[in-house]
Amino acid sequence: MDWVLIKNLKHHVGKEVEIRGWLYNQRATGKIRFLILRDGTGTVQCVLVKDENTDLFNNTGDITQESSLILTGTVREEPRSPLGVEITPLSVKILAKAEPYPITLKEHGVDFLSENRHLWIRTPRQSAILRIRSTVQRACRDFFHSRDFVLADSPIITPAACEGTSTLFEINYHDEKAFLSQSGQLYNEATAMALGRVYCFGPTFRAEKSKTRRHLMEFWMLEAEAAFFDFEDNMKLQEELVHHLARTVLSENRDDLKLLKRDVEKLEAVSLPFPRLSYTEAVKLLNDLGHPFEWGNDFGAPDETAISDKFQSPVFIHRYPARIKAFYMEPDPENPDVILGADMLAPEGYGEIIGGSQRISDPTLLRQKIAEHHLPLESFQWYLDLRRFGTVPHSGFGLGIERTVSWLCGIEHVREAIPFPRTLYRMYP
Ligand code: 4AD
Repeated sequence: MDWVLIKNLKHHVGKEVEIRGWLYNQRATGKIRFLILRDGTGTVQCVLVKDENTDLFNNTGDITQESSLILTGTVREEPRSPLGVEITPLSVKILAKAEPYPITLKEHGVDFLSENRHLWIRTPRQSAILRIRSTVQRACRDFFHSRDFVLADSPIITPAACEGTSTLFEINYHDEKAFLSQSGQLYNEATAMALGRVYCFGPTFRAEKSKTRRHLMEFWMLEAEAAFFDFEDNMKLQEELVHHLARTVLSENRDDLKLLKRDVEKLEAVSLPFPRLSYTEAVKLLNDLGHPFEWGNDFGAPDETAISDKFQSPVFIHRYPARIKAFYMEPDPENPDVILGADMLAPEGYGEIIGGSQRISDPTLLRQKIAEHHLPLESFQWYLDLRRFGTVPHSGFGLGIERTVSWLCGIEHVREAIPFPRTLYRMYP
């Protein structure tokens, strides 16, 4: 008998199959028992009728939630089931009976669920989110490989800051001070000068003091860098990437989106090209909407929501004041007070999902910016070398995976978009 994954059962109607998984729930009404099984790819309802299989009916009543088992049965078409099929069981072999399971089907508080994250991820909703995350990560890689970008991993242990010194996690590196990487960008710039178009994809770390629904201490960032790409080429690449991610999830994770009750019309409405507003235009928009906001400040979450609410697709805000952005961003030749950089804000209040810019290619200007930002020049000698040996215009960006997944899934908080979140007050389990 074939071992079939639950998501593939619909292709086996009328056949006898084997399912290997765990009992998610069971309930009985008189002479019918419903066993709900999960195997990581989905859940399926198995319907046992007492009069048809009395022994099996009697032997399955005490199987506890999350017991592991192998069930054989016949696949039956069932239009009312989200899967389109149900199982008529033939046999059940229990591998291990589970102790009373702490996560029951009633509502639990988020602190309790977070304390039990290793078990919480077994619930259908959490599993659906993690499957969508997996699709997004694969789609990111496919996108870049189809465009001749080379994957070049950046280090996690670094000697200097990339995104400001206030959020660094410091570590002891054989009695030398080192930091967990905030971004692979500076290394991407080096590999881009070697390979032309590169990306890196890994965990990044920020000792953020913020306890918001958008901030993690450890998050995954997809970062691309391309030699000879200007600011416009960079934005085009980003919008095509994000459009591709939305399309791929819509086509590959329909059932998961349904389970999450995601309004898919909102994702289907995402279309190219994405709208673009300059920072100055965005400030005017906020003021016109009655939000007091002064030119020169950074947008907070409510400001970002008010701006993105005006659009169905993600929106670029470009040419921010240089003063509030990182040291490496190229000033706009037409107005050096602003930079050739853009953030992409997701719709529906999900806020910034991408930060990117053209990079300073002139060595003198770059040295001056490093000094102005009070960064240790000696740690950046190698980075300055990139401008000494055949400097070229180049651009890149970083996309936060958890924020992107949260938006695509339509979930409240980034902590559900990563298997084991690291938040301000929690690093267990
Ligand atoms: O805008 P950021 O700080 O950009 C950079 O790090 C650039 N060096 C990237 C590059 O150009 N190669 O961060 C990029 C994205 C943000 O838009 C956001 O999606 C995500 O990373 N991000 C976070 N996600 C979760 N928790 C946090 N604490 C995050 N900080 C940034």
